[in-house]
Amino acid sequence: MEATRFERILVTAALPYANGPIHIGHLAGAYLPADLYCRYQRLKGRDVLFICGSDELGVAILMRALEEGTTPQAIVDRYHPMIRESFARFGISFDYYGRTTSPVHFETSQDFFRRLDAQGFFKLKTEKQLYDPEAGLFLADRFVRGTCPVCGYEEAYGDQCERCGTSLSPTDLINPRSVLSKATPELRETTHWYLPLGDWQERLEAWIATHPEWKPNVLGQVRSWLQQGLRDRAVTRDIPWGVPVPEDVARRHGVSAEGKVLYVWFDAPIGYISATREWAQQQGDPEAWRRYWQDKRTRLIHFIGKDNIVFHCLMFPAMLMMHGAFVLPDNVPANEFLNLEGKKLSTSRGWAVWLHEYLETFPPDLLRYVLTTMLPETRDADFSWKEFQQRVNAELADILGNFVYRTLTFAQRFAEGKVPPLRNPRPVDAAVLAELASYPERIGTAYEQFRFREAVQETMNLARLGNKYFNDTEPWHTRKTDPQACANTIHISLQLCAALSILLEPVLPFAAARLRQMLRLEGVRASTPERTTGTLGWDDAARPLLAEGHVLGNPEILFSKIEDDIINQQIAHLEQRAKQTPSQTNATPYAPLKPEILYSDFDRLDLRVGIVQKAERVPKSQKLLRLEVDLGFEKRQILAGVAEQWAPEALEGRRVVVVANLQPRRLMGLESQGMLLMAEDREGRLVPVTAESEPGAVVR
Ligand code: 2FM
Ligand code: ZN
Repeated sequence: MEATRFERILVTAALPYANGPIHIGHLAGAYLPADLYCRYQRLKGRDVLFICGSDELGVAILMRALEEGTTPQAIVDRYHPMIRESFARFGISFDYYGRTTSPVHFETSQDFFRRLDAQGFFKLKTEKQLYDPEAGLFLADRFVRGTCPVCGYEEAYGDQCERCGTSLSPTDLINPRSVLSKATPELRETTHWYLPLGDWQERLEAWIATHPEWKPNVLGQVRSWLQQGLRDRAVTRDIPWGVPVPEDVARRHGVSAEGKVLYVWFDAPIGYISATREWAQQQGDPEAWRRYWQDKRTRLIHFIGKDNIVFHCLMFPAMLMMHGAFVLPDNVPANEFLNLEGKKLSTSRGWAVWLHEYLETFPPDLLRYVLTTMLPETRDADFSWKEFQQRVNAELADILGNFVYRTLTFAQRFAEGKVPPLRNPRPVDAAVLAELASYPERIGTAYEQFRFREAVQETMNLARLGNKYFNDTEPWHTRKTDPQACANTIHISLQLCAALSILLEPVLPFAAARLRQMLRLEGVRASTPERTTGTLGWDDAARPLLAEGHVLGNPEILFSKIEDDIINQQIAHLEQRAKQTPSQTNATPYAPLKPEILYSDFDRLDLRVGIVQKAERVPKSQKLLRLEVDLGFEKRQILAGVAEQWAPEALEGRRVVVVANLQPRRLMGLESQGMLLMAEDREGRLVPVTAESEPGAVVR
């Protein structure tokens, strides 16, 4: 962080919808990285405010209520406390966790809307929209289904076709029907406020250009939205659940405000501001929120998952620019998605690990650690229970836990439970202390740059260094042959444990606190908002912290190994629930058939058998493999977008079917001279279409 420019950091994590519990995908996307970052920054002594809350308005909540035959208020009243509680037990260290049904939020978002309207930024458009005459409601977004005009999928939603991904508006659908009453909707006139994103494209582009340091996955998505050209977006809806459009604003335009609310993606990000105002009130300093939102020396960082990028990198910044009084985000380190046991997480299919269920069996730190090692920072990642077990046992128990335990038991047995003196350090002792000195800065750089996987790896390397040093200096021998050498080993190992108890705090806050208790190390600053008198922080971990003669506590096992049967139970539980979840089979529809073609259309394709002779990743591309395919009569270079699912070696030697007369095209600077046929199943898995014949054989 450029210390000169920023004086404080405001961190937000996406407001989760209060229509279901939190699962590991949510954690890996936004909440865990945000917490790691905030805890690190607090240990650095920086002024950090960490804000989140429940997203309780909008169509998603309303639909859930209608499905369950209850009110939206009942839904959010059930899930908001549950979510807040899970986060707290998992150690997510928010300064404030709010909710968007609060009066402060209603007032804040109405004021925001009013100000943009008064400045004349909105465009009002009166259009015909689908209306359900039986339910007496306009059918926004997901309240209408019909046939996708692009791919023919019959269950497309009013805002998007889940089959082909096309963004739609409800009136684009063929044969629309109301999700509520199944009635055929009719068209009725209604007026809405539009955010003129199209007019702000250039300003947004110029601002984005000032942030070349953003993560490539984020910039990639942002540039692709900009390339397509931003479209004006309606920021009001005709639904009975949301922040009402202020009457004075509607009146100014001669429109009735009745039944109109703000679009949930208009009010939700303002929820960050409302929650900060509530935090300030709670502090007894109601204006304190302005320091964080309206002073240019604040560094604003939004942690989100990749499906929220457009809203946080373009729409909300445009709103903030129009409003004029707020800082813009300095970074939006969005993560990609986490899969579970090789499949997409899906709440409707019961394919998820819920945080509250996890916490029934395991302590929070284990999941915090394992998820940090596999965060989907630049590409989708996969969580599996076996890997969870393996990392806990081989890394937390065998490396970290073992080092701490052997150090403390040696100190108890051979140094009277005190820190023994360090005298005449050998070169090996001096070398370890010198290495220790470089760790806080190196790990810190990874945290500053949102490379949390690297940060946790580096931190574990310090425990590895400790074990190696302990083994190399053999205190069990020197105890008899050279007692001072043994004392030196114990002394330095204890200093490494003390440093670890600070450097591990972001990832393993509960274990780090226990370690400090065992060491009786006091005076470490809190990594949570809690006020403490501690003065020791991150940088202090670079030097020895325990004085000679300091009395230690008792050694305890930091991490126990997880037995196979415990893990097998988790796997069985997951599979069982996925089987029982009713919507499972309907949830993923088969791809619809394309329109009929003539034999002459088919005959224009030249399909050939080929052998993949060589396969390698295309540098800088997540998706592409470069293949050399032997067609018998000639060799072709083919680029295939399968790198996320196929290791290059797994394709080498395979016989495949190739579209051999496709016009060559260039991808990432390389020419692709044909296409490999792949079968894609309903889960999106790709399998090459194979053919056991000689290369060059014609497929007809
Ligand atoms: O995708 C989601 O879960 C949204 N509820 C995130 C909202 S983030 C912010 F804008 F409030
Ligand atoms: Zn479609």
